[in-house]
Amino acid sequence: MAEPDVTSVRPRADLATLPSYVPGRTIPGAIKLASNEVPAGPLPSVAKAIAEAAMQAHRYPDTGAGELTARLAGKLGVAEAQVAVGNGSVSLCQQLIQATCTSHDEVLFAWRSFEAYPIVTHVVGAKQVRVPLTGDHALDLDAMLAAITPQTRVAFVCTPNNPTGTIVHKAELDRFLDAVPSNVLVVLDEAYFEFVTDPDAGDGIDHLRERENIAVLRTFSKAYGLAGLRVGYAVASEEISDAVRKVCVPFSVNHLAQAAAIASLDAEEELFQRVHEIKGERDRVRGELVAAGYDVPESQANFVWLPLGERTAEFNEHCIEHKVVVRAFVGDGARVTIGTPEENDVFLTAAKSFSR
Ligand SMILES: Cc1ncc(COP(=O)(O)O)c(C=O)c1O
Repeated sequence: MAEPDVTSVRPRADLATLPSYVPGRTIPGAIKLASNEVPAGPLPSVAKAIAEAAMQAHRYPDTGAGELTARLAGKLGVAEAQVAVGNGSVSLCQQLIQATCTSHDEVLFAWRSFEAYPIVTHVVGAKQVRVPLTGDHALDLDAMLAAITPQTRVAFVCTPNNPTGTIVHKAELDRFLDAVPSNVLVVLDEAYFEFVTDPDAGDGIDHLRERENIAVLRTFSKAYGLAGLRVGYAVASEEISDAVRKVCVPFSVNHLAQAAAIASLDAEEELFQRVHEIKGERDRVRGELVAAGYDVPESQANFVWLPLGERTAEFNEHCIEHKVVVRAFVGDGARVTIGTPEENDVFLTAAKSFSR
């Protein structure tokens, strides 16, 4: 047997099988509908706050994001100690696992769901347990319950689910939460919360008031339009939030991000008018796709899902020929972000001319 090479630095062997996170592609000259971003740039008031914050770039940021944390706690009606601000909510997904799991533990999530869950689970060395979606592209909470074992420490419930756009209704979630053992942390990933219009959807913060074993994740990347600055937050019990803050990389939420998030809270009314327009466009795009013969689950997010199976790669190429970049999960489906009405029209023209 060959002697192990002890003379050079080696990354962890198990990382060889870990797929990298695949970001939405950017193709010069093409419309990008691949990353669930909002189409409009920062409001003037937010851009001003960012510019002013830039003048403090020689100083370290407030590592506890104190002002932003206080604003969020006040807005949500929770204690400041329950809020943990992070470098995007994806970072908080990882911190929550780091704070609760070791390599002996299991992390449960639906599949397909947010692509980062398998990665952040693997990085910590915990075991992934993936539960297939229902035939209607929704989370199968009964199957998720059945998949819980004594090793399960975390269960991600992504609602609306990325990439299918489906939600978990409040009554369904209540039943699930009643049945989940109290030592399993249920992470309600509500990255697209502000796009939800279904009155039966429920609100993670209400669930959190009733139970200890819940963490809610939200972000400034989507409805607030700050994807490029990286700021999200977790709301959980004081004990869990404290642990999440402990595993945070110090100073990872930069000063510009904190200032922009605070200015965005001040400008919520204006930002939510934009969100309102996106919801209208989402329903229009879905309606036109359904009328054109596509199967598209009802979306409560800022994207739609086309479960095209084996034809996904071909659809992707067809869209690129029409100068539209969508997010293709080859063999499964394509996720298409809602853009401006004009961008959506270009996409719809492409979709309608795809031979099926
Ligand atoms: C379901 C879900 N959760 C979390 C995130 C992470 O968002 P961010 O890290 O930008 O806050 C995303 C981003 O696409 C997402 O789709």
